[in-house]
Amino acid sequence: MSGTLESHYGSDGIVDRILAALDEAGTDASSLTPDSFAGADEFHIGGRKGSEIVADLLNIEEGRKIIDLGCGIGGPARFLARTKGVHVTGIDLTPEFVEAAAALTQLVGMSDKVDFHVGSATSIPFDDDSFDAATMIHVGMNIADKALMMSELARVTRPGGTVLIYDVMRVGSGTLTYPMPWSSTPEFSFLDTQEIYEQAAASAGLNLVSVHNHGEMAKMFFNTPPVNPPTVNLGHLMGSDMPIMFANAKEAINAGIMSPIILTFEA
Ligand SMILES: C[S@@+](CC[C@H](N)C(=O)[O-])C[C@H]1O[C@@H](n2cnc3c(N)ncnc32)[C@H](O)[C@@H]1O
Repeated sequence: MSGTLESHYGSDGIVDRILAALDEAGTDASSLTPDSFAGADEFHIGGRKGSEIVADLLNIEEGRKIIDLGCGIGGPARFLARTKGVHVTGIDLTPEFVEAAAALTQLVGMSDKVDFHVGSATSIPFDDDSFDAATMIHVGMNIADKALMMSELARVTRPGGTVLIYDVMRVGSGTLTYPMPWSSTPEFSFLDTQEIYEQAAASAGLNLVSVHNHGEMAKMFFNTPPVNPPTVNLGHLMGSDMPIMFANAKEAINAGIMSPIILTFEA
């Protein structure tokens, strides 16, 4: 795999693969719910557990507007819309993910609560102060320029709003083995420390509110596979290399090289 970051993530037929797996498991198409896609649509450490932790930490009132940068195929966006009663706009660089996000959302009747657009977290296609909160889940590892990323997050979030970043960050020395879930090669991989995120955020005028290192949850996630694996999984999203990516990420977590950390800021 080479070329672009989008070619690491994107492929044709994502929705077809997910629906075929559900069909094979006997799920009736008329009974699909947002939970039917869990396993494939929450592409971050902890899966649903990770989404729940984010929702719990997100300080937002019902009816408000969130932007989710690097939304993938929309699992976190649909989850936040349902659990927090907010409208979520998802932005992602990978066109095939945005297309799948919209199609899955339509299948479960949530298109009035969540919308999706192709775009970059370093050049967000919205005006200043457009959103009450911004979330970014497992995306910063693909972004070299953390200062630009933070200034864009700060720009589109209204003063007093929340910026929440749930990323994998470097917590120790050591070399990563590729492919990793976020990049097939080192070319598109920018694993940075919490300090780099915090410095970039401070320069963008964001005030740090909380830090949560979910290293123990990550160890559970990687070392204790679920007794009843979900019908659809990240293999349906990312293809046959997913087990190797998972194994490489597990090795780096267990070796203390990286950890999933949530930083929240006030804009
Ligand atoms: C590991 S996935 C996480 C997806 C989603 N946040 C989730 O938790 O399910 C990383 C996502 O970030 C997107 N991405 C990477 N760099 C980006 C950028 N500069 N702007 C927007 N999206 C980006 C990728 O296309 C991919 O969908």
